[in-house]
Amino acid sequence: MSSWKTRANLGWLRALPGVKEDEPLASRTSFGIGGPADFFLEVARPEACEKAIEGCCEHGIPYLLLGAGTNLLIADKGVEGLVIRIVNREHQIEGTRVRAGAGLKMMRLARIVADANLRGFEFAIGVPGSVGGAVYQDAGCWGKELREVLVDAEGYVPGKGPQRWSPIQLQLGYRTSALRDGALKGALVVAATVQLQRGDGEEAKQLMARLTRERNETQPIKTKNCGSVFKNPPGDSAGRLVQAAGLKGMREGAAVVSTLHGNFIVNEGGATAADVRRLIDNVMAEVRRRFGAELEPEVEMVGRWK
Ligand code: EPU
Repeated sequence: MSSWKTRANLGWLRALPGVKEDEPLASRTSFGIGGPADFFLEVARPEACEKAIEGCCEHGIPYLLLGAGTNLLIADKGVEGLVIRIVNREHQIEGTRVRAGAGLKMMRLARIVADANLRGFEFAIGVPGSVGGAVYQDAGCWGKELREVLVDAEGYVPGKGPQRWSPIQLQLGYRTSALRDGALKGALVVAATVQLQRGDGEEAKQLMARLTRERNETQPIKTKNCGSVFKNPPGDSAGRLVQAAGLKGMREGAAVVSTLHGNFIVNEGGATAADVRRLIDNVMAEVRRRFGAELEPEVEMVGRWK
């Protein structure tokens, strides 16, 4: 039994308003894969989320912050402790600045700002995750990343309280940040503010429609997937390397390297996290063997793997 599972801790967790026990998570990921959370809490009010995180830290209970689950592989045995999902989806527009709740989807925000005749956020129509998730890993598409428009992000650090972080403090870089890989690990993103430009919303919508058509043709977005599996190595492309190694169509169980785009793994139905992980390892080993290139997973693997 895990050491945090004391009577007192279980009692505290069960008393959290709205908490669910042994809650399935697979349907909360775009992959449709993964076991249950020991405890699961979905809240719109940041204060409720902050209180839960603070409590976990005080009680020594592990916790995981879940966004839209679009870049995530959850282990088949599920996730230890408390999984918390913030679903605040509000937004405010002041002139050319837009503040959005962490739970709002990037694609939804892209449409909202186009309706408000703002430009510079069209790339977000290709980002499947939430605003919070986009801050967490500096999400981007078509060569444009969140950091290029981000003014700041509001969040919460357990033990320190509410914070406001500049892009520099967030250490945003290609699919990385201090939240994902640095000093802010475990901190909650509550909202983000972006700076856009005034422009023609209809043109923005036309551009987004064209980009979406392109994405439909080049990425297997109709099948369950986790977005790009690997980061692009500097100066190269993971998809190109996987294709050149002849690995498109390679499979483990129901997990298959997409025949459309080499940097996607699709869940044909019923794939396990273990299948996906084996496939990732096999692809990495083969690309290493053929080209001496080291692929680094972009998808985050969480939960109990052993
Ligand atoms: N390519 C191949 N074979 C393939 C796939 C791609 O040769 O099977 C080649 C393409 O011909 C192109 C190059 O690789 O010359 C790059 O491919 P693509 O334009 O499809 O973009 P990507 O680098 O694979 C990146 C992001 C995507 C984003 C697209 C669209 C990463 C890891 N991925 O993909 O982001 O949607 O650009 O701009 O940076 C994500 O991060 O989850 C994601 C989907």
